[in-house]
Amino acid sequence: MKKISLLLLFIALSIFSSKASDDLYTLNRQKLMQSINDGIILIPATKDLNSWGSDKNFLYLTGFNAPGAILALNPNDEKEILFISENAKNDIPVNCSIETQPLNNINEFLKKCSKLYIPINRMQEFTEILGNNNIFRSINYISNINPIIYNMRLLKSNEEVVLIEKAINLTGIALNEAFKQSKTGNREVDIYAQIEYQAIKHGVKTSFYQIASGPNSTNVHFDYTERLVKAKETIVFDLGIFYKNYTSDISRTFPVDGKFTKEQKLIYNVVLKAQKVGISKMLTNATHDYVEKKVKDELAKGLYELGLMTDSTSNWQREFYIQHGFSHGIGLDVHDIYYYFKSLPERKYATGMVYTMEPGLYFPEDMIKSIPERLKGKVSEEEFKQFARKVGEIYKKYINIGVRIEDDILITENGNRNLSESIPKEIEDIEKIIR
Ligand code: GLY
Ligand code: MN
Ligand code: MN
Repeated sequence: MKKISLLLLFIALSIFSSKASDDLYTLNRQKLMQSINDGIILIPATKDLNSWGSDKNFLYLTGFNAPGAILALNPNDEKEILFISENAKNDIPVNCSIETQPLNNINEFLKKCSKLYIPINRMQEFTEILGNNNIFRSINYISNINPIIYNMRLLKSNEEVVLIEKAINLTGIALNEAFKQSKTGNREVDIYAQIEYQAIKHGVKTSFYQIASGPNSTNVHFDYTERLVKAKETIVFDLGIFYKNYTSDISRTFPVDGKFTKEQKLIYNVVLKAQKVGISKMLTNATHDYVEKKVKDELAKGLYELGLMTDSTSNWQREFYIQHGFSHGIGLDVHDIYYYFKSLPERKYATGMVYTMEPGLYFPEDMIKSIPERLKGKVSEEEFKQFARKVGEIYKKYINIGVRIEDDILITENGNRNLSESIPKEIEDIEKIIR
């Protein structure tokens, strides 16, 4: 009896959740149509299923992949049509509320159209799907729909946040299992296998992964190798998991065998403090650049106090240690609406955005030996040599340490919410995992 009622509850919940997701995409299409006065919106899927999934705008408006399909929305009569090829038929979910029509009908449909809104960077897809270079020749007015969709996608609805949180929770589960395998005698790939196992077990896929130990952990982006991890090394984990097309992006640094060395702790605490400062500044209307500056100031302060910088305000010395940005949107993409947001004049955080906060510090053996490529022209040989002479001995203590800590933060009206708060990042909590 108990089993049956549990089963019923499960069925009810799954019906409810699939309905809730349908509503999300219906709502997205309605919102988009409301922002256009007249004309027709066309959004192509990709011609074929590429490894990265479908076109993200198409996914945002439908919730599924349908290679070779074109979504048409007419705000005047609220008509929604999916023009699909014969092959795409099987990709359309049975409960899809959008009317489908054969791809060929699109010509007839466009005859009545004088204003067209399309993603102009997707002309190639239109051409590939429709097999014609001049498909829109009879249309007088063509406008780019991307900024309108991007502005919508930048601000996550409550339902999208729920999907991202689900992705984050699964990431936490996978990371936790991977941490337990972060022991001498295992290779990076053995640890990665735990992640893949957890993803398969939960019916999801990874969007991104890095399991980088020792010297590998000092590379900013790396996946995994067959390298054996060794005691007294750090492993930088960076993991994203897709849940219903929405991805997490979490980094944690784990010491092999679960115990940080003194030097690792010192660096870890500098990064952790800077990350917390960064998160505390991620507020509605704060600019992205301001927040990054605060994080850099904090990292520089920590590095200076450890004797790794001779001048905490020196731009080139900061650039020497700080090798990547700290914050980007997540959503349907790991770097969601990245270039559009970067192109905005003010780049302000706004209520509803989900952005990462991910400072990192890395100490490759060679970095101190000569001016790194990225600093060429920014510091003279002489000044760099002087710097290396002063900090070189101290730098040696930290060689092969890599630390990155990354959380996913929802900007709210009155502050923010760390969606990945439950994934351990305090030294004591991390050290408890293997113990
Ligand atoms: N996973 C890529 C990044 O952290 O930005
Ligand atoms: Mn990441
Ligand atoms: Mn990231």
